[in-house]
Amino acid sequence: MTILDGKKISNAILEELKEKVANHKENIGKVPGLAVIIVGENPASQIYVRSKVKACEKVGVKSTKITFPSNISEGELLSKIDELNKDSSINGILVQLPLPKHMDENKVCNAIATEKDVDGFKPESLGKLFIGENDGYIPCTPQGIMYLLEQTNIDLYGKTAVVIGRSNIVGKPVAGLLINKGATTTVCNSRTKNLTEKLRDADIIVAALGSPNFVTGDMVKDGAIIIDVGINRVDKKLYGDVNFEEVSKKASYITPVPGGVGPMTIAMLLKNTLKSFEKGEK
Ligand code: GUN
Repeated sequence: MTILDGKKISNAILEELKEKVANHKENIGKVPGLAVIIVGENPASQIYVRSKVKACEKVGVKSTKITFPSNISEGELLSKIDELNKDSSINGILVQLPLPKHMDENKVCNAIATEKDVDGFKPESLGKLFIGENDGYIPCTPQGIMYLLEQTNIDLYGKTAVVIGRSNIVGKPVAGLLINKGATTTVCNSRTKNLTEKLRDADIIVAALGSPNFVTGDMVKDGAIIIDVGINRVDKKLYGDVNFEEVSKKASYITPVPGGVGPMTIAMLLKNTLKSFEKGEK
């Protein structure tokens, strides 16, 4: 069994990005800029945003964190996005989700200029992902998952993949990427009939349903590759969607929580931001 060490792999990516950013600074006197918007006090979102800002500092990307109280109007948020869309020093705009209930997340994400959609949440970005065009932005967690899968050097063509979770941020886009690689892909959820049977048949399992220790040892076949996207806080402790202790005994490769998919998400965000910057400079 090999642990897919997202922390280590992401650090190597960040080092590479840091070098590229330093080169741009030297050659053209400019660095990429990322705007991160957070609305309200969601504690998990605050932790994620802090990690994103910290990663920017590490790589030399200029981050602009914009904090709004939970009671701002959707209009106020949209006008901030409009301002950032027009700001040439900003290459990427990220609105941390979830947003307060009185806001329409799709409408807010759609307001971001497509060339600055470094989260890859817009229909234009997701459409390109599904048809396999690579000049758009792939959402960060799915992109990080595919990067981890590449580290195994296993050809996904003809493999059986099961994704648990059908969110727009993870489940649906990662399914699209797996399909593009030729994996026979099923998207399930916690209420899927015969889920255990489907999981036992899977060469690759991506668990992204947000339920602590949901996938247990009896649900996976020997040699399966296990990607755990879950970050569940229970009594101040972090749990993935996979029971690591049980499943790691059967898996060929497995991601830990924390230190697996999480840091990869952040590395891919920085990668997308640099991509946007470089496109703008062409
Ligand atoms: N909330 C959970 N994951 C993400 C993410 O990748 N990006 C944003 N913007 N919000 C999130």
